[in-house]
Amino acid sequence: MNILHITASPRGGQANSHLLSSRVVERLLARHPGASVTLRALDEDALEHVDAEYALALGSGVDQPGEHGALGRSERLIAELVRADILVIGTPMHNLTVPSTLKAWIDHVVRMHRTMRPSPQGKVGNLPDRPVYIAIASGGWRTGERARQPDFLEPYLRAVLPMIGLKDITVFSMEGMSLGAERAVQAREEALAAVDRHFGLARAA
Ligand SMILES: Cc1cc2nc3c(=O)[nH]c(=O)nc-3n(C[C@H](O)[C@H](O)[C@H](O)COP(=O)(O)O)c2cc1C
Repeated sequence: MNILHITASPRGGQANSHLLSSRVVERLLARHPGASVTLRALDEDALEHVDAEYALALGSGVDQPGEHGALGRSERLIAELVRADILVIGTPMHNLTVPSTLKAWIDHVVRMHRTMRPSPQGKVGNLPDRPVYIAIASGGWRTGERARQPDFLEPYLRAVLPMIGLKDITVFSMEGMSLGAERAVQAREEALAAVDRHFGLARAA
């Protein structure tokens, strides 16, 4: 059992999204003792953007594997994803959507003719499905009646991951983190408790 934990906040281990996604990993480890965890911290190991060769390869109509540049990076990142039985993503909202570091990862793993293929009905995923947990932290409200901003983060991830076959998606949310210390404390408690409930654990007081 392999868990791939991707973290996208520039705040590393201090990040709210890191706290939340780490709680998911903790609960998964309790459920699957002995599972291994691969941490891909996109703040420490920022990916370069995809390059011209990569863009040409994707537009060529067939898969064009490569060992160097973005194609090589893409192969390695896809292999890491394929090895994972469970994917956990911790991400903040940045300007209404995913941070650019996470977008760079997506551009490397969502690859036409490799992890997906075209069909008359649209893009079809090539990867076997597996559970995906997404932990999102946002400064303001992102969902519900209190939201004063459009959310291009969760709907985006719910659209792009199924394109490669990852459809079993569960989202945990920490919202209003920039709305004062009191709200931040409450949001943390609520979000961590939601994870615990999901994994069948009542949160200790
Ligand atoms: C560059 C940048 C852009 C941000 N854009 C938004 C935004 O559009 N909406 C929002 O609610 N919060 C936004 N925030 C606030 C973060 O989402 C918030 O501070 C969150 O708690 C950060 O999570 P983290 O601790 O996991 O990094 C932004 C923060 C940064 C640094």
